[in-house]
Amino acid sequence: MNRPLLQLALDNTSLEDAFNTLNTGVDEVVDIIECGTILLCAEGKKAVETIRNRYPDKLVVADFKISDSGRVMAGLLLEYKPDLITCNASAHIGTVKAVMDEIKERGLNTRVQIELYGNWTMDDVHVWKEIGVKQLILHHSRDIKGGWSDAEIAKAKELCDLGMEVTVTGSIEYKDFERFKGLPLYCIIAGRSIRDSANPKEEARKMIQTLEQLWK
Ligand code: 5RP
Repeated sequence: MNRPLLQLALDNTSLEDAFNTLNTGVDEVVDIIECGTILLCAEGKKAVETIRNRYPDKLVVADFKISDSGRVMAGLLLEYKPDLITCNASAHIGTVKAVMDEIKERGLNTRVQIELYGNWTMDDVHVWKEIGVKQLILHHSRDIKGGWSDAEIAKAKELCDLGMEVTVTGSIEYKDFERFKGLPLYCIIAGRSIRDSANPKEEARKMIQTLEQLWK
């Protein structure tokens, strides 16, 4: 089983601070760089433009969690050709389709990821699958006290079993990776556990080594 990819969430509150993180050398270690929702709120689409220009060959995510006005919102971010773009699970199916149409019309290969918050159901997953969404992000909100519950991990497994490419995120540190062992996850996202560590590059390296050991 391939190891999950490691995504660095840049939820910094400015681009300057995001580059303070990236310039530690962590950019060479992680598989995916995420322009986080917080960074997009702080800096707008310029964040995707700047990160894309600096990393033309790296997988880049525009994590705007689009929930309405799919064509316009996605269009603003798609100008800079992110590899992945997120929609909120609460978005109307028409919004998700609009994002996909915008991608198609621009001739891009950007993949849509649905970020699972709130009151989504397995029926929703089937509908997303039917319209061509392949990727889901199971999110443990930073506003929930405590770590991942067994029920959340079981949910991740259920989504993998449906054949979706599943990413997990939210308050995950490398010592939590073992709990996901055996799941064919697409990716694990780490934000604060990398950014706030004394040495982000070493922290990410330790994470990759742990993933390699656990998923070999
Ligand atoms: C917040 C996000 C974060 O990028 C994600 O949850 C990772 O953050 P952390 O590891 O710091 O909890 O999508 O909207």
